[in-house]
Amino acid sequence: MSLTIGIPREIYAGEKRVATVPDVVEKLIKLGFAVRVESGAGEAANFGDEAYQAAGASIAASAADLWTGSDLVFKVRAPTAAEIAQIRPGTTLISFIWPAQNPELMQQLAARKITVLAMDALPRTLSRAQKMDSLTSMASISGYRAVIEAANAFGRFFNGQVTAAGKIPPAKVFVAGAGVAGLAAIGTAANLGAIVRANDTRAEVADQVVSLGGEFVKVDYEEEGSGGGGYAKVMSEGFQQAQREMYAKQARESDIIITTALIPGKPAPRLITAGMVQSMKPGSVIVDMAGEQGGNCELTVPGEAVVRHGVTIVGYTDLPSRLAKQASTLYATNLLRLTEELCKTKDGSINVNFEDEAIRGLTVIKDGEVTWPAPPLKVAAAPPPRPAAATPAPAKKSAHGHGESEPMAGGTLAVIFGVGAVLFWLVGAYAPASFLSHFTVFVLACFIGYMVIWNVKPSLHTPLMSVTNAISSIIAVGALVQIAPPLGAAAEGRPSGLILGLAFVALALTAVNMFGGFAVTRRMLAMFRK
Ligand code: NAI
Repeated sequence: MSLTIGIPREIYAGEKRVATVPDVVEKLIKLGFAVRVESGAGEAANFGDEAYQAAGASIAASAADLWTGSDLVFKVRAPTAAEIAQIRPGTTLISFIWPAQNPELMQQLAARKITVLAMDALPRTLSRAQKMDSLTSMASISGYRAVIEAANAFGRFFNGQVTAAGKIPPAKVFVAGAGVAGLAAIGTAANLGAIVRANDTRAEVADQVVSLGGEFVKVDYEEEGSGGGGYAKVMSEGFQQAQREMYAKQARESDIIITTALIPGKPAPRLITAGMVQSMKPGSVIVDMAGEQGGNCELTVPGEAVVRHGVTIVGYTDLPSRLAKQASTLYATNLLRLTEELCKTKDGSINVNFEDEAIRGLTVIKDGEVTWPAPPLKVAAAPPPRPAAATPAPAKKSAHGHGESEPMAGGTLAVIFGVGAVLFWLVGAYAPASFLSHFTVFVLACFIGYMVIWNVKPSLHTPLMSVTNAISSIIAVGALVQIAPPLGAAAEGRPSGLILGLAFVALALTAVNMFGGFAVTRRMLAMFRK
């Protein structure tokens, strides 16, 4: 039996987004689901009821009608108590939930005996999960919109111009925090022609800042800023002091500051003090994207734009909703990708499969039982943390140069070598000579393969795989020998037509493997080139 996906109208004040759009409705129907949309649900995002109907959805006249008639409900904002009261037991709800911040909401949802998938609980470091990562899609919209809001409040051009009426210098934009939103802001401001500088506590983002047209400004203090999973951590007092000095200088020089700095589960770091605001030129603009978490600027009023010391401080907390059509489309696509994972059979049913790490991470309540937080991922895709600069003793380098595993103890190594030597001696003494030569090549190949792979950074393992894929096409040599036997081979030794045909097919297929492998490797390596 095919399930019905329900899309209620968002009732949170000022929320303009909607959880699905007509284009995506068609794709959900192709997966075997029926789609029901509450009348007016997409209006604020410019999607009328008729567009949904044309895509194959049915329209529910009221919220009550929608909630009671749906097996799966897609939402943007977490449901309110009134909405929760209408959910049928057994329903699956997919929405933003923020379980850590909303324990009461979690209890209310669990009491309804439903299953809840929280889009904000997705394990983002899983590369397979990126297509469902709505935090990333919303953050990049926010970063873009922050620059547009800044441009709106700023009384000058972003780009420098030489006109008959005089020379106009480009605007100077400083971006604090270069995560997803910060990088989007850097790219947008640079495209508008501004001089963009940025800072982040995670030094690894410096290259990304530069690649988007910005300049990375370092804090003059050595401290590792990664707190695991690609996120930041709270920095030491010494670092914060050095950072404040650098930010004070940037505030004096910049026309626009966009702040995006966040630390998961912690209040937003206070980076821009009242004194820094006062030091900015009149007419300058600050867009504080961390308003909901307390703000990066001391003078931010969350949800509002205020003027303090002649500087406009924009603290809007609804930036994605201000680009409702775009945000709804991206969110709907993230939900579609998730639905494809839930419904691999394409028959309009879902399987909340806990073997799948992405789905396990997302599921915060299953059949009324709280399943949040999910156990940590088995394989961390994020690079291992570097030893902190403050650590007095330098961390020992591992045998393979990764710093990931402990070097083997000397005694263990000696035993392994001893056993290996005895085995070699036995093989050498008893095996036939022809076997011995093949065996030696095999052992050497294993050794070289091991050394090569273990000395390559994990992030380069994918290009390495594609190049070995290309090299493995040594089969081509075998096929060539069959097609063109060595000169002087006896006529009766020549292969039959069937073998020739097979050899030709093998050669054609390996050619694809070979050239494809090298082409893919080249493209992937180009991504790492500076
Ligand atoms: P976020 O919204 O939690 O934080 C924003 C930025 O603020 C981060 O870059 C953080 O380092 C920075 N920050 C925190 N405290 C700061 C301070 N005191 N001063 C200056 N900057 C500070 O982070 P977001 O944007 O959600 O993601 C963080 C990172 O995770 C990004 O670089 C992103 O590329 C990465 N990521 C990786 C994924 C993957 O591996 N598949 C998926 C999603 C994100």
